[in-house]
Amino acid sequence: MSLTESSLLAALTSVQDPHTGKDFVSTRAVRNVQISGGDVAFDVELGYPAQSLVPELRRAFIAAAKTVAGVDNVSVNISTKIQSHSVQRGVQLLPGVKNIIAVASGKGGVGKSTTSANLALALAAEGARVGVLDADIYGPSQTMMLGVSGKPESSDGKTMEPKINHGVQVMSIGLLVDNDQAMIWRGPMAVQALEQMLRQTNWKDLDYLIIDLPPGTGDIQLTLSQRVPMTGAVVVTTPQDIALLDAKKGIQMFEKVGVPILGVVENMAMHVCSNCGHVEHIFGNGGGARMAADYHIDFLGSLPLSMQIREQADSGTPTVVASPDSEAAQIYKKLARDVAVKVAQKAKDFSAKFPTITVSQNT
Ligand SMILES: Nc1ncnc2c1ncn2[C@@H]1O[C@H](COP(=O)(O)OP(=O)(O)OP(=O)(O)O)[C@@H](O)[C@H]1O
Ligand SMILES: [Mg+2]
Ligand SMILES: [Zn+2]
Repeated sequence: MSLTESSLLAALTSVQDPHTGKDFVSTRAVRNVQISGGDVAFDVELGYPAQSLVPELRRAFIAAAKTVAGVDNVSVNISTKIQSHSVQRGVQLLPGVKNIIAVASGKGGVGKSTTSANLALALAAEGARVGVLDADIYGPSQTMMLGVSGKPESSDGKTMEPKINHGVQVMSIGLLVDNDQAMIWRGPMAVQALEQMLRQTNWKDLDYLIIDLPPGTGDIQLTLSQRVPMTGAVVVTTPQDIALLDAKKGIQMFEKVGVPILGVVENMAMHVCSNCGHVEHIFGNGGGARMAADYHIDFLGSLPLSMQIREQADSGTPTVVASPDSEAAQIYKKLARDVAVKVAQKAKDFSAKFPTITVSQNT
């Protein structure tokens, strides 16, 4: 094969996106091909943050390009462009926030907050701009897990500045009111407080805002999933059967209000012994995957029950930041890329591009 744009593109189809299983030419991610003598240059634009894949992808593209006769030098520019995707019908996007991802669970204590914090930090580590809204009025824990404290600053007395730590913007109900006060709020009051907290925070140019929802599927959760513009939801579960039953209720709630489920995460799936490293499936094996299959939703992965995950989350530096090269951090990063790919595959939101038409009647 001689060196032409089409022979080069044909060769590049051998490089597959590990997250979509498709090649980058057919998805039109490869652009701006330039050929000058034996020098070739092209751009690859990903729709999701994937910093940790870039070196490997670059090597694969260079090797693929060099299979074409006549190619001497290859220059590949890999970048990410994250777009806004559509939300529930009739709900408007939030300024400064491209995509909201809710993290939910059917019941408490399954590791929803730990997963939210690590997911947010993993998206940030992969190159995205990320925020976390801790909406769990019953047990806000993002102040502790993401290591932020103190009352949020306000320059106008109406809006609030998020706290920033580990490169992530954070707002938590735990920063605003004390625990005992929020616990006694009834549904409508809690929803109003949470909506205000969401809308009055000056989120700065976020690709993703992760919302740590209160556990369960009551009125508060249902109302929030109707009103907050969500691109999708991640459901966290543990392998015990009862938790799985509860997780099913969570899935049904989002289906009812038209928020797509991005997938299920199984937390504390197996125990890894800190002494010898052997793995035990204390609660049985594969429950999360079976549930996902039953409901035709995606299984995003399993996290082990690990002392390291608990200690690091509970001390303000979750695993993705504390031990970025650990196996658990790799699982969280893969989870983050999978979630971002699922978001990128949703229809784009064009609401900002269309003018609002108002019909007025002159009498
Ligand atoms: N994979 C894990 N291995 C070990 N400990 C974990 C793991 N995930 C979470 N934990 C620990 O379990 C406890 C509960 O987790 P977390 O607070 O994330 O759950 P939650 O679902 O948000 O709970 P709540 O309903 O109280 O908000 C925490 O102390 C956390 O550090
Ligand atoms: Mg929690
Ligand atoms: Zn052991």
